[in-house]
Amino acid sequence: MTLIVGVVSQKGGVGKSTLARMIACEYAAGEWDVKIIDMDLSQGTSTAWNSRRMQNEIAPALAVEQFLNVKDALKKQDSYDLLVFDGAPHSTRRTLEIAQAADILILPTGVSLDDLEPTIKLAHELRKNKIPINKINIALSRIGNSSVELEEAKEYIASTGYHVLTGILLEKTAIRRAQDEGKAATETSFKSVNQKSDVLIQAIVDRIETIKS
Ligand SMILES: Nc1ncnc2c1ncn2[C@@H]1O[C@H](COP(=O)(O)OP(=O)(O)O)[C@@H](O)[C@H]1O
Ligand SMILES: [Mg+2]
Repeated sequence: MTLIVGVVSQKGGVGKSTLARMIACEYAAGEWDVKIIDMDLSQGTSTAWNSRRMQNEIAPALAVEQFLNVKDALKKQDSYDLLVFDGAPHSTRRTLEIAQAADILILPTGVSLDDLEPTIKLAHELRKNKIPINKINIALSRIGNSSVELEEAKEYIASTGYHVLTGILLEKTAIRRAQDEGKAATETSFKSVNQKSDVLIQAIVDRIETIKS
């Protein structure tokens, strides 16, 4: 059976594509056949990123394909072990379609209320549409160097009852530069950055294992 992971947010720029690529690379490194479904048709950034990855001959290789809707994306994908949906912003219907198809959802969010409140709103919306709560996982993304801000954000999410993943994605130039070369946030030139990103990816892998079993 193909595992389906959805990375979704109603907002742009929160790190959906960055996270989708990390997840894809992690599993591909473990010899899984992985495809990213790039749902952000207006930007197609993961498709362009994978072209850079191929041009720079970065292993492991991945497949990326753009789709307008989830139903078409799910056709003839049985040969893949993992599909990672890289969601588009501002599309409630598509987000819900991804949520229904996915085994697990990752909702990246920054720590400001401007980011947190829409994230929780989306989580509530998903719940209202009968998405089980354990599918919904919040990932702290693009985190600066204030531990107070981070702790407050974690407390805020915890107070809503949604699961916040262990680990964070730091806001780092190295991550942007890596992605410019077709690499993931776990494949930067800086070991310390990769190690931080690895904690988050491990939490995602563990969560997937829990949900599957
Ligand atoms: N952790 C990070 N550190 C630095 N830059 C980041 C980080 N995460 C994302 N970015 C950059 O921010 C922009 C938006 O990120 P992206 O993952 O494309 O978000 P989304 O898919 O939600 O729109 C991109 O230019 C990306 O390189
Ligand atoms: Mg994107």
